Amino acid sequence: MSTDADKVNADDARLAVRLGPLVLRNPILTASGTFGYVREMAGIVDLSRLGGVVPKTITLQPRIGNPPPRIVETPSGMLNSIGLDNDGLDHFLKVHLPFLRTVPTQVIVNIAGKTAEEFALMAERLAEANALAGGIAGLELNLSCPNVAGGVDFAVDSSLTEAVVNRVRKVWPGPLLAKLTPNVHSILPAAQAAVAAGADVLSLVNTFLGMAVDWRRRVPVLGNVTGGLSGPAIKPMALRLVYQAAEKLAVPIIGIGGISTIDDVMEYLVAGAWAVQVGTANFFNPTVSVKLVDQLPEALDQLGANSVAEIINSIRRP
Ligand code: SIN
Repeated sequence: MSTDADKVNADDARLAVRLGPLVLRNPILTASGTFGYVREMAGIVDLSRLGGVVPKTITLQPRIGNPPPRIVETPSGMLNSIGLDNDGLDHFLKVHLPFLRTVPTQVIVNIAGKTAEEFALMAERLAEANALAGGIAGLELNLSCPNVAGGVDFAVDSSLTEAVVNRVRKVWPGPLLAKLTPNVHSILPAAQAAVAAGADVLSLVNTFLGMAVDWRRRVPVLGNVTGGLSGPAIKPMALRLVYQAAEKLAVPIIGIGGISTIDDVMEYLVAGAWAVQVGTANFFNPTVSVKLVDQLPEALDQLGANSVAEIINSIRRP
């Protein structure tokens, strides 16, 4: 007769996923920019239940970000134009990384640089810190922030994508993730370039460019005029991009965009994602990611599947 402990262990084995060199206890992660530097969430969320966490993007120098308002709610979505507000790499290494080393799940550090050189410089310093004391399971390159110059443009240009990934690959020995933009005609050129340059995993996708207007005052709502749209509104579009990338590329993909229910998780996995990042849903339900982990075994049962690995990219293609 199996005990509750056996059941937990059996479920753990069913849920584990291997994205190339990156091993996760389950496919549910939290997305960059929606979970602070994790410390803020540690009292609310049982981090040991998650597949991984991605703290907010860091840059080499501190940034004050864009003028307010920086967030506005839209139907089934959220527009943000934060502008990579953060305290910079030195602060991250001194203040955040020591805490993140104590977090009982995989930590994927997300970085953005103004140039390929800056990306590489940051990656090199993070690699040194990791060699000394560990704590970083993977490095996610934000090639796709829509709210800064030198952001989204990296991943709209496959040669820039390749240049950045290539430079970072030379100095970062661990799992390397490239987070791409959906604001392109086709995701494939940048995705192929990232993989050719050595990315182990593709994170698909960042936010969709959009705007909100206060028609009574006749002004844009966001201080930066445009912003990145996230939340349930973008799920069908992000799902399409994951499906299309998975159709052509053998690389592991993390699906991102509008995930808040177990159905969303299953749709992404079946369509080609190997794991997912939960983003905007953290703002209206901070513990949703743990709930999704809880619900996964039952969803696998519905498909008669023994493991998450079994259902990844299992969609019947016409
Ligand atoms: C921001 O800080 O503006 C958002 C980050 C991103 O979309 O990559």
